[in-house]
Amino acid sequence: MAFFHLLLSWAAPATFLLLCLLFLAFLGLCLYIQYTHMKYDHIPGPPRDSFFFGHAGTILQIMKNVKREVCGSWKRSVTEAEAYGPVYRINVLHYVALCVSCPEATKEILMSPKYPKDKFVYKRLFNLFGQRFLGNGLVTAPDHKLWYKQRRIMDPAFSSLYLRGLMGTFNERAEKLMSKLSDFADNEKEVNVLQVVNHVTLDVIAKVAFGVDLDLIENSSHFPKAIETCLKGMIYYVRDLLFEYKPTNKPFINEVREACKFLRKTGAQWINERKTAMQNDEDVPKDILTQIIKAADREETMTAEDEEFMLDNFVTFFIAGQETTANQLAFCIMELQRHPDILEKVKKEVDSVIGMKHDISYENLGELTYLSQVLKETLRLYPTAPGTSREVPEDIVISGFHVPGGISCIFSSYVTGRMERFFKDPLKFDPDRFHPDAAKPYYCYYPFALGPRSCLGKNFAQMEAKVVMAKLIQRFDFSLVPGQSFDILDTGTLRPKSGVVCSVKHRNDKK
Ligand code: HEM
Repeated sequence: MAFFHLLLSWAAPATFLLLCLLFLAFLGLCLYIQYTHMKYDHIPGPPRDSFFFGHAGTILQIMKNVKREVCGSWKRSVTEAEAYGPVYRINVLHYVALCVSCPEATKEILMSPKYPKDKFVYKRLFNLFGQRFLGNGLVTAPDHKLWYKQRRIMDPAFSSLYLRGLMGTFNERAEKLMSKLSDFADNEKEVNVLQVVNHVTLDVIAKVAFGVDLDLIENSSHFPKAIETCLKGMIYYVRDLLFEYKPTNKPFINEVREACKFLRKTGAQWINERKTAMQNDEDVPKDILTQIIKAADREETMTAEDEEFMLDNFVTFFIAGQETTANQLAFCIMELQRHPDILEKVKKEVDSVIGMKHDISYENLGELTYLSQVLKETLRLYPTAPGTSREVPEDIVISGFHVPGGISCIFSSYVTGRMERFFKDPLKFDPDRFHPDAAKPYYCYYPFALGPRSCLGKNFAQMEAKVVMAKLIQRFDFSLVPGQSFDILDTGTLRPKSGVVCSVKHRNDKK
């Protein structure tokens, strides 16, 4: 009894003390939020939903719509950039991010190694629901030194000399797609373009980067499904912080974890096979897999972390190097069907450069200038990797506003690509914007990002896209099946929501 009395006599003051501490912490946070408001409120921005949570209400609303998201957050950013100007502010609690469309600031920040990738976003991709995913690979490596070392070692696998040597593989894999499409044409079956081009880009990256024949055009494999599941998981994990705590999501989360494990397990198997070949002094290609092994190899014995690091890059190349190109191809076919005049012009060019031949040479790619313009214009309206962000630790001036250091800046080629300020009549698909004689867009068009952390696979991707597109245009007539939407689905990367369903005919087949 005495014990309970003693406990009660302590409990009341202890609770009171705890409440006081909580109140003080809350007050401290409120003061800190007020301080950040005072520090950054001279920069324009949409009205906050509340003092405490800032714009979190609106952001949560967008997150809720993730499932049926039709590029809503980026679309909204275009409207906001038009309304609030070249730099505007978003607040969540004490956290401040700036959305930047000012070309000078875009140049200054993205082109400099001084501004690291935003940890808040990129660190989250280390894991997917607790399962290691992109880890410290090239896209997500937060530490400049670690990233720079990897990038230098990877560079030879992307040199123009090395890429020239890949023309055979690009041609050969694209030919497999052509014979598949021939079957569709012969059987008068409709084709989901996104699905088939996804298979070809996955086939290409597996063969070119890792020396493995997946041959997905002919064979089925768990691989595309695993990648698809990871990408789907990625958007929920990054955009909905509460997703993993809802019991109803458990089965899907387990599926994502299994998909991640599957990718990494496959990676481990391919890496081991290549390492054995290297140890046996066999002649191995200087492809991405060899470079990944070199990037991790410290010449002494490898630690478990080194092994994990190689798998980080394995997954990174499959995630970064496949879907983005496939989506570009599908958007391109969609836009060409919607613009018969442009299609006619590009057909004429393809016919005059490659005629009936099946092997497209590196030199031919240089001659397909209008096709290049079409592909560039596709990425203006549909930059398949739409945004990037950087930390700005020190004070800076953006568009005349003094910005105290300690914030994140968000950049998006989707946003600038659709602004009247940069592109006249921005929603019009017009490849002539990229005519060799036209003025170059000034830091408002950057679908491959800019500066040191820009896309390593840019030339690879555009060579691959050109080979596939040129062959498609050379051989087939597509027509969009009526009734489908032209909406964009935002799954982290942007893709055509409909999948671009077409009927396909052999060219000049007047049936
Ligand atoms: C149309 C196709 C592609 C587009 C639009 C694209 C776009 C981008 C963008 C915007 C970034 C910067 C990402 C960020 O800041 O978070 C990036 C990075 C990267 N991309 Fe691509 N990409 C494409 C194809 C490829 C291909 C085919 C590969 C590999 C074969 C690849 C490999 C990479 C790598 C390794 C990085 C990280 C670079 C670094 O930080 O050093 N990409 N890409």
